[in-house]
Amino acid sequence: MQRPFAMITGMGHAHGSRLVPNEMLEELMDTTDEWIVTRTGIKQRWWSEEGEYASVLAERAARNAIEEAGVTPEQIDGIIIGTVTGDMKFPSTANFLQARLGADNAFSFDLSAACSGWVYGLSLAESLIATGKGKRILVVGVEILTSMTDMSDRSTAVLFGDAAGAALLEVSDGQAGLLSTYMGSNGKLAELLWAPSGGSRFGITPVVRAAGKEHLLMKGRHVYTHAVRAMADATQQALDLAGLQPEEIDFLVPHQANIRIIQATVERFGFPQDRVIINIDRFGNTSTASIPIALDEARRQGRIKPGHKVVMTVFGGGFTWASGVIQF
Ligand code: ACO
Repeated sequence: MQRPFAMITGMGHAHGSRLVPNEMLEELMDTTDEWIVTRTGIKQRWWSEEGEYASVLAERAARNAIEEAGVTPEQIDGIIIGTVTGDMKFPSTANFLQARLGADNAFSFDLSAACSGWVYGLSLAESLIATGKGKRILVVGVEILTSMTDMSDRSTAVLFGDAAGAALLEVSDGQAGLLSTYMGSNGKLAELLWAPSGGSRFGITPVVRAAGKEHLLMKGRHVYTHAVRAMADATQQALDLAGLQPEEIDFLVPHQANIRIIQATVERFGFPQDRVIINIDRFGNTSTASIPIALDEARRQGRIKPGHKVVMTVFGGGFTWASGVIQF
């Protein structure tokens, strides 16, 4: 079996129902539309309403992907969800999604790689297909980051949106598919972006609350510096592994964390603006859902077409980073 081993045959995405423009945040906290747009590029984001937890948004995105692929839930062999804000500690959100879909023949599990979760999942699913562990694997990235955001911390509360993105990966037709994937991590820098409480190390106790460890905590400046370097390096790795030059790529799909991080990556490779997919203005940072949403939108808008080569690159908590080249 030669690469490409696996191809995307359907995609979908979904977001929380509550539209939150920057102007609404001006009412809730000490911030301005001008600060948010200048520093991040975000104009609005979607937050979950009551009852819109991870498996609910995951199901909406997954059903779109399955429908586009033209398969039944029973034909799915595996479900992988990248998330750090799943329905509950266990079982996995993928188990709940399996039940919701009626994907009775699928194994299912979650993986934890923060923003990089969906690209990690895609890479893993490709390997499972290449080694014959399954023919059809559903890969979902879903995050309800509002469930762990400190709404009194304006430096993080303005950034995140709740959303899901999904792709069905099937055996490649020999033309379309993943031309490369790459993953990296650095656990020594975990404390720069983490949500330390609620596990076996720091339960949610009054002491933890008093220490301010209950929520997602981020040293934004430091994360920014590492993100710029890691997303550019990961892009280069994906291109090298696929044996491609930047000018042979039709679109760059970067993780939508901050418009300035995106611009730094764009400049390093000299991608023209019209070959970069950007939707951070409308979605905010949706973490693991960011890349599949950007891919799915661009496909549905007819920007990414069959035959196009796309490089994606992501960076997130852990730290983790990942990238890949997809031929559609
Ligand atoms: N509105 C107004 N002022 C604000 C806000 C706000 N929402 N937030 C912070 N400020 C203030 C700060 O208090 C600070 O004020 P001071 O100078 O008086 O102390 C000033 O703005 C500058 O703050 P910085 O944190 O230094 O601002 P910076 O330019 O670094 O932007 C940001 C912050 C947007 C968070 C940026 O650092 C960033 O995007 N970092 C990377 C985020 C990222 O990529 N995360 C990875 C993925 S996320 C994930 O994995 C879940």
